[in-house]
Amino acid sequence: MKNTELKESLFHPLAFGNFKVNNRIAMAPMTRSRTKEGDVPTTIMAKYYEQRAGAGLIITEGAPISIVGRGYSLTPGIYTREQIDGWKPLTEAVHKKGGKIFIQLWHVGRRSHSSITGVTPLAPSAKKVADKVFGPLEEGGYGMIETEMPNAMTKEEIQSTVMDFANAAKASMEAGFDGVEIHGAHGYLIDQFLRINSNERTDEYGGSQENRMRLLLEVVNAVVNEIGADKVSIRLSPFVSEGAGGVHDPEIAEVTLKVLKELQKLNLAFVHFSENISDYKEVPESFRKQVREVYTNPIMVCGKYTKESGSEIIYKGYADMVAYGQPFITNPDLVNRFKNDFALTDLHSDSHSIFYGGGEEGFTDYPTYEEMKAQKN
Ligand SMILES: Cc1cc2nc3c(=O)[nH]c(=O)nc-3n(C[C@H](O)[C@H](O)[C@H](O)COP(=O)(O)O)c2cc1C
Repeated sequence: MKNTELKESLFHPLAFGNFKVNNRIAMAPMTRSRTKEGDVPTTIMAKYYEQRAGAGLIITEGAPISIVGRGYSLTPGIYTREQIDGWKPLTEAVHKKGGKIFIQLWHVGRRSHSSITGVTPLAPSAKKVADKVFGPLEEGGYGMIETEMPNAMTKEEIQSTVMDFANAAKASMEAGFDGVEIHGAHGYLIDQFLRINSNERTDEYGGSQENRMRLLLEVVNAVVNEIGADKVSIRLSPFVSEGAGGVHDPEIAEVTLKVLKELQKLNLAFVHFSENISDYKEVPESFRKQVREVYTNPIMVCGKYTKESGSEIIYKGYADMVAYGQPFITNPDLVNRFKNDFALTDLHSDSHSIFYGGGEEGFTDYPTYEEMKAQKN
């Protein structure tokens, strides 16, 4: 490998969709549950994303597209007037710093509880697995609570969900986003439809692989029709079995390749693979090669990447961008630190307590490298 090319691969600009990003380092979507009344984005959220605008592209935390699509308390929605307006200062702040920002459109399916939403969760089938989400505790306050048995969706509910995604995409444009990422990963609604274990339907949305892919393709097409393919991306996680009760779907890699063949025709902004969260298997190199045989448009990867492994995967041609999650929580200036080989601030061992809920602590109070140095002197 040519060392300089390898070292620089994260820092080359990339043109995709109808715009160009300054580097190939994306900020991964991360739910931080910092909203208040009405699940409207807050001022501190604008500050948090503005601090991280050095990323080539920011993908926001999951934004529920409807009440029933909500799975975690205090997450910012994109379906009421107040929520849409609430995102505007945030997108403006990122753009002012020269950044680009996509919003992650989220429907959790069965990974919810009526104590969070006031309604019974919806899923492909009435099937529950052991699973916890962030919601109201009986003793007061918030914490991790067990999910609830969902209702199997009627065809009307499926169709209105597809519309909810399209409407949320339209609202995202109004809120000033550069594009949207459809959350098709991590055992949430779209992923539940893809997998045999969570989808036991006998109509055209279940059974064969093509039927299980139907909801995903309907959602992507509806969103593309609404805002244009160049502003649309989707996140997938075939090797992650999060929220699937510990069951790995033996057909999911094959189904994913079939999905990619269809997505290739649409010229989306990018497809994003989440590879490495809680319940996962290593992505085989053979799968990466198969992906590239059917999908030649931009690919983003995410999951425990370092500067070195991120540079390498781009250099090898398996990805065009790398998203970083936890490193961006503690290093708002991650791109600058990578560029200059500055030391990274690590998460403390009690980091989970700052992930969800709370205020500025553990959210907007991580200094840049320069600020840290100034504080020490
Ligand atoms: C606090 C936290 C919240 C997360 N929320 C989301 C989310 O809303 N949507 C999503 O697709 N992934 C979510 N993830 C997963 C990250 O996007 C990413 O895939 C994961 O952290 C692995 O990347 P990393 O090793 O660089 O952190 C979350 C991760 C963390 C740590």
